[in-house]
Amino acid sequence: TGPETVSPTGQPTGADPARNAQSGAYLTTAQGARLYDTDHSLKAGPRGPVLLQDHHLREKITHFDHERIPERVVHARGAAAHGVFRGYGTAAKVSKAAFLAKDVETPVFVRFSTVLGSRGSADTVRDTRGFATKFYTEEGVFDLVGNNMPVFFIQDAIKFPDIIHAGKPHPDREIPQAQSAHDTFWDFVTLHTEATHHTLWNMSDRGIPRSYRMMEGFGVHTFRLVDAEGGTTLVKFHWKPKLGVHSQVWEEAQITGGVDPDFHRRDLADAIEAGAFPQWELGIQTFPDNPEQTFRGIDLLDPTKIVPEEIAPVQPIGLMTLNANPSNFFAETEQVAFHLGNMVPGIDVTNDPLLQGRLFSYVDTQLTRLGGPNFPQLPINRTHAPVNDMLRDGMHQTAVHRGVAPYRPNSLDGGCPFHAGADTRAFIEVPAEVEGRKVREAPESFDDHFSQPRLFWLSMSPVEREHIIGAYTFELGKCYEQAVKERGLKVLARIDGELCRKVAAGLGLPVPEPDGPLADPEPSPALSQVGSVWPVD
Ligand code: HEM
Repeated sequence: TGPETVSPTGQPTGADPARNAQSGAYLTTAQGARLYDTDHSLKAGPRGPVLLQDHHLREKITHFDHERIPERVVHARGAAAHGVFRGYGTAAKVSKAAFLAKDVETPVFVRFSTVLGSRGSADTVRDTRGFATKFYTEEGVFDLVGNNMPVFFIQDAIKFPDIIHAGKPHPDREIPQAQSAHDTFWDFVTLHTEATHHTLWNMSDRGIPRSYRMMEGFGVHTFRLVDAEGGTTLVKFHWKPKLGVHSQVWEEAQITGGVDPDFHRRDLADAIEAGAFPQWELGIQTFPDNPEQTFRGIDLLDPTKIVPEEIAPVQPIGLMTLNANPSNFFAETEQVAFHLGNMVPGIDVTNDPLLQGRLFSYVDTQLTRLGGPNFPQLPINRTHAPVNDMLRDGMHQTAVHRGVAPYRPNSLDGGCPFHAGADTRAFIEVPAEVEGRKVREAPESFDDHFSQPRLFWLSMSPVEREHIIGAYTFELGKCYEQAVKERGLKVLARIDGELCRKVAAGLGLPVPEPDGPLADPEPSPALSQVGSVWPVD
């Protein structure tokens, strides 16, 4: 490989000055042979025909023909930046991860995205936003692959293809949900009522952020941290933007979407170019690692639930600054491959069934998207820690491995046996007890789909409630199927009477009776103060 430029944080940007043909003194083929003309095919006489022997023509067109790779199956539309993370050292008592130690600086690459739109879709649509961070730590890559909302639509990854099929453009007309027909999305979220909480966040101002720089980020799942003595703590990760949380109002989002569909992408790149580097504090909510995996009755393995910050404050553990734009969108933003399984010693997973399915899905999709198993070798995915693996060959292999015996122990290359626990710097899974009958069931606590949506609604200010009512009225109003709209109103009746009545009035439909009682009509005093958790600006 040729020399590479590096970002200000030391991360290779993938830009290779040797591959800068447009400004170089001369042009070559991919094999380095100099060319004298790139504008005329080789022909039998100036009026043709074109000769098959024209290697330069064939190379140029063949390569162009293969320039596109599949877009991400979700989160296809995104923008990214390089930066640096500095640990405060405050997490040292709960995690031995080296990058969290005081004043350790770690290069990062962050990709923000929408979920449902294709690569060329608008930035400003109502949707969840991805917030994925790759930490190039000295102990290996750690990926925190989160969203700008703290909960998810489903509790089990086995439903992920279903919710995404329901949300993607209609299969017959390929009309995106955000523009016209909405029936499948609303059909799904009203039949699978665990989606109610996330849907409510989507219908709130959080669904139309002002800027990527002004979004919170959430790891969503509960993770497990491991300290130097092997002690464990359950945590939820939070990114808090220094610029505060800001949204557009619906009319603004419509205008910016029309006038400048690249609104968020431009905003991020312009701010960084101008030196206005966006910053986020990373924080954690911590919970004892008890056998029930609950905190004050909230099931920590249920990704449709939050733990209110009043009862588990977010404690800051480090600061992230984004200070450099990618120099090549394809090499970096498009080829970056995040994966929850990229973990470092001191951070481990829990049994959240959504998280567990994600541990399979990301690498699996990247094998197709990035053409085989060697995408960790791409400059943007390359770890900054030394690599010493026994993975060999495969499509797009760029390493030239030495030795003859890629197995251990071996008697030919001097490879000795190798014992888990012998190296204290190794990643060692928490030896958690596992038992149980094999069943396709969810725990009973996963059945509560309405108490937290109600909590969220009760925390909203009057103007925020009006925005939510407007959003439900507009979005449900786009459904063709009367039955889907009616089922939508029944769901709203379980959240709040006023919300249901006002949306029903907007749709010109009767107010339905709720199918069950309001789940949390009298939230506990601590929970009723939860409004301050969601300031809109
Ligand atoms: C991509 C977040 C659930 C499958 C992404 C990305 C983010 C994200 C931020 C974009 C990464 C990038 O910028 O390249 C989340 C969150 C989830 C969630 C926060 C729930 C808490 C799931 C589930 C599955 C899944 C349950 C599948 C079972 C995928 C796939 C991609 C993706 C296949 C595309 C990855 C690629 O092509 O590189 N997700 N996701 N996600 N997610 Fe998720």
